[in-house]
Amino acid sequence: MSEQPCDSSAPTLFTWEFATDPYPAYAWLRDHAPVHRTTLPSGVDAWLVTRYADAKKALADPRLSKNPQRHSAAAHAKGKVGIPGERSAELMTHLLNIDPPDHTRLRRLVSKAFTPGRVAEFAPRVRTLTDQLIDAFEERGEADLIHEFAFPLPIYAICDLLGVPREDQDDLRDWAGMMIRHGSGPRGGVARAVKRIRGYLAELIHRKRGDFGEDLISGLIRASDHGEHLTENEAAAMCFVLLFAGFETTINLIGNGVYALLRNPEQRAHMQRAVEEGDERLLAAGVEELLRYDGPVEIATWRFATEPLTLAGQRIAEGEPVLVVLAAADRDPERFAAPDVLDLTRRDNQHLGYGHGIHYCLGAPLARLEARTAIGTLLRRLPGLRLAADPEDLRWRGGLIMRGLRTLPVTWNSTGG
Ligand code: HEM
Repeated sequence: MSEQPCDSSAPTLFTWEFATDPYPAYAWLRDHAPVHRTTLPSGVDAWLVTRYADAKKALADPRLSKNPQRHSAAAHAKGKVGIPGERSAELMTHLLNIDPPDHTRLRRLVSKAFTPGRVAEFAPRVRTLTDQLIDAFEERGEADLIHEFAFPLPIYAICDLLGVPREDQDDLRDWAGMMIRHGSGPRGGVARAVKRIRGYLAELIHRKRGDFGEDLISGLIRASDHGEHLTENEAAAMCFVLLFAGFETTINLIGNGVYALLRNPEQRAHMQRAVEEGDERLLAAGVEELLRYDGPVEIATWRFATEPLTLAGQRIAEGEPVLVVLAAADRDPERFAAPDVLDLTRRDNQHLGYGHGIHYCLGAPLARLEARTAIGTLLRRLPGLRLAADPEDLRWRGGLIMRGLRTLPVTWNSTGG
């Protein structure tokens, strides 16, 4: 690894305390070591980029490859870089692991099937799912919002969108649950879950080939670009990345977002009024601010230097991993006024929560639809919603890429018994 001066006052990263509140450590890094070399809990060395301007540049820098095989160490072979459990060769060739021209071709193909129009048509289904989930616990007067609400909503939504038959959706939910429960722990559980998901998707894609429907998988198989189609492996990898990228992120946007509102009563009152008055604009702007303030993707996915380069004065050698810390960039005082304050009416809010450049989140329209519907409906139907735990007792998952709560116990005054 390239050299970096050692500073004994540097904060300790990746502990449980850090997972609870990483923002003071990121502020230190922005000030003292904006491109900082660290050893990750997996033992892999990587550079952390924490300032907004550098982060934005790095996300769009073609010299930073997304292909894990560009890593100078053999860590990719041991499954230590990349998305957890995706070592299987069939699932490796997805958007977050490839560069142009392959990325351009695959993204163009998937964009033909995964259009904002298709997402908009899906709005009534997301509303129904949201209402059904709240119906199941409303009368009880208490719930764990992660397990009973934020977790099932995106998994059922993405299953419906892909065209997974309803009778199979609980299996997908269970395997997805295994992936995130084990995401930061033993990797055996992740590998098992990925294997089941892969087997299921391959079989489903095969079935759909003989019987096209109006769903996204059928659209993906049919999509063609200058006569080119996705192969079965590419289609399976694409479905896998849509599942992977689309569910834990959305769980955490809902979870972190509701938690931030409950801890900031004035802002919550503001959002409550917007919801009651049907002010969709404020609801939408509020969700963007929740994403900037404590978004679900703490660190963007892996990038690797394809040649020696200098970032913010720091030399980075060919093959070294670079991790862009979105959570740090989105609290950079050089870019945002009073960045540590949650301000739902913030006007200048070009956050990096969905990334930037050619890998900008493909699912952003779906994520926005789900988050607005989920948070808006919760506040409308459960106006007395409040935390049912001491914030000190809440635990964060502590994975590298995602930031989210393990549980979110809440209570409200029920009308039932
Ligand atoms: C709150 C929710 C979400 C957040 C915060 C989020 C964030 C992100 C970010 C930061 C990236 C770029 C990663 C990088 O450059 O390293 C990304 C890419 C991606 N996201 Fe999302 N995402 C969300 C929801 C979704 C959903 C619902 C889907 C699909 C169903 C989705 C699909 C994707 C895909 C396919 C990519 C890769 C795009 C590419 O490489 O061209 N995301 N997302």
